[in-house]
Amino acid sequence: PIAYVNGAFVPLSEAKVSVLDRGFLFADGIYEVAAVLDGKLVDSASHLARLERSVGEIGLALPESLSRIEELQKELVARNELDQGMVYLQVTRGADKGRDFPFPKGDVKPTLVMFVTAKNIVDAPSAKTGIGVITVPDIRWARRDIKSVALLAQVLAKQAAAVAGAGEAWMVEDGHVTEGGSSSAFILTQDDVIVTRPNSNAILPGCTRKAVVKLAEERQLKIEERLFTVAEALAAKEAFITSASSFVQPVVTIDGKPVGDGKVGSMATRLREIYVDFAR
Ligand code: PDD
Repeated sequence: PIAYVNGAFVPLSEAKVSVLDRGFLFADGIYEVAAVLDGKLVDSASHLARLERSVGEIGLALPESLSRIEELQKELVARNELDQGMVYLQVTRGADKGRDFPFPKGDVKPTLVMFVTAKNIVDAPSAKTGIGVITVPDIRWARRDIKSVALLAQVLAKQAAAVAGAGEAWMVEDGHVTEGGSSSAFILTQDDVIVTRPNSNAILPGCTRKAVVKLAEERQLKIEERLFTVAEALAAKEAFITSASSFVQPVVTIDGKPVGDGKVGSMATRLREIYVDFAR
């Protein structure tokens, strides 16, 4: 595999950044994950817009223009002959001469790193079987709308899910589901209303979430953006998650208890098909 590091394409095994990199020392950086399908970036404009917003919110200037970044992503996909999977991109506030909390003064250049991961997203077996989720307290910071590389809370949540044999962790705050460790959370009520939490500082504005909401609205499906509880999700007809790396995935159990009849729902399956068509 080939990676991109600060202006050069290099073998991933040789791709390196400094131990003084602020991404490493302080998690002072932003990341993006975009899907690749048939060798093409999926919903790229949406991911680039979020990248621009995230870096703006932490006062970090991108080392390349958005259009140049997209070109580099495409070149990386081509160099790796990637047909399906993800492009990971990370930009940090760079490596200064030591470990100082305030922003570096002078000409410290941001670090820009990209690599790809092959994954069969479309034919993932879990789309047919559904996944289980566990619930964990949402212990993250208050600016979850920024796609920061500080992911320790999600690492712990998703490790707990893995140990429990679940596919995702749903984080819960003040009795309401915020989102998954690396996905947006949805339910379908018994009267066929798709429900997902509104965007705010409490969640990451998912690109897949945004596209799915729009695609559902275009098809006159009923959508409500509002908070929901774990109890409401358990009593719902269906539950599902969305993310760039999984598209739409049905959720069939929460903490080991069945959602609705415990089977993969037809709405999740339909929205998945609609999203795959959109992605192509
Ligand atoms: N995760 N919420 C969180 C906390 C996320 O980390 C992600 C994405 C999402 C879904 O956003 P999108 O639809 O734009 O992927 C929601 C990426 C895929 C990751 O960390 O690997």
